[in-house]
Amino acid sequence: MRESDSLLALTPPMGWNSWNTFGGAVNEAVIRETADAFVSEGLKDAGYEYVVIDDLWEADERVDGRLTWDPTIFPSGIPALADYVHSKGLKFGIYSCAGSHTCAGKPASYGYEEVDAQTFAEWGVDFLKYDFCYAPAGIDGPMLYHRMGQALRATGRPILYSLCEWGSHKPWQWGVRTGGHMWRTTGDINDSWDSIVKIGFEQQVGLEAYAGPGHWNDPDMLVVGMYGKGNVAHGGCTDAEYRSHFSLWCLMASPLMIGCDVRAMSPATRTILLNSELIAVNQDPLGVQGYQVGRVPWASDIAVTWAKPLLDGSIAVGLFNLGERDGRRIAVAWETLGLHDRRPCKVRDLWAHEDLGTHTGSFVARVDRHDVMMLRLTPTNA
Ligand code: GLA
Repeated sequence: MRESDSLLALTPPMGWNSWNTFGGAVNEAVIRETADAFVSEGLKDAGYEYVVIDDLWEADERVDGRLTWDPTIFPSGIPALADYVHSKGLKFGIYSCAGSHTCAGKPASYGYEEVDAQTFAEWGVDFLKYDFCYAPAGIDGPMLYHRMGQALRATGRPILYSLCEWGSHKPWQWGVRTGGHMWRTTGDINDSWDSIVKIGFEQQVGLEAYAGPGHWNDPDMLVVGMYGKGNVAHGGCTDAEYRSHFSLWCLMASPLMIGCDVRAMSPATRTILLNSELIAVNQDPLGVQGYQVGRVPWASDIAVTWAKPLLDGSIAVGLFNLGERDGRRIAVAWETLGLHDRRPCKVRDLWAHEDLGTHTGSFVARVDRHDVMMLRLTPTNA
């Protein structure tokens, strides 16, 4: 592996992807205006970097054996768009698929891995999301990912490789050796609390051992700020639900790929996506994926606690109320975090941006339904 590859994704990738909001309505203006909004809305300064076009950018046929863009929606062409994104100090991503066609039925890379990797490198692509539809029957899925990983490396351009295999063949077990920097662990998220609970709080438990600097589990893109609009609309969520979603993705060291329309964010969406104390938890250089330390089911009144050890010795803790009762008491005991009961810890509320004093043994908070208390515990000698 070249040094430039190993330096990619040392912390979870951050950016935006067109699919959740735009699906087939993506076009050149959307991508340019999204890059503009990264700068004007402070997303770039907060660490968001990759602007990624998902499926449906492609023309219906290859030209001279090469993939090309749909000229009606990208009249200036993809290389010019990549240049524009780069001119803003951002990185540019695109999408293809390991099968003969993309999930939306456009031409894809099976049998064309080398020429497609070369094409993407020539266009100035920095990130490839590689999907898994239309893979030929009987073909070994991991082998197809390996092929594209090899082809990307051979281009000599550092390209972040994002495997979108939906967890079908446990990519956390083999994604690293294909050159993957992140891999989807589940099917597609949609904009609903049910989807967040299923994909986030249920399906990620136990995958923490497989993530680390340069390679991350990907529980899919964020739906924060969609409010039931766009391509994966499914009723939408409340701000409390989006806060819980973002908190969990930060604790899990998940890639933070925004899915809402960043040109038109609500004030609450801005507050969530730009929370620098949460982003610092996600981007902590220790690169440990957080894990579930507690789950208290009480009929449907479930409370869960997740923790993520951080480089400076502090621990990020999320107290989540997945139940329906407001004001539920949720406790975290030091002993579940690997701390001695008698160790005093400074406790900080990462949503209120407030210090909550020094505590010993445990901390208890009241959390409303579907909401979260995000804490940073810093052990002290006091
Ligand atoms: C699959 C992927 C999605 C999206 C679509 C595009 O469903 O999992 O994230 O890329 O294909 O067609």
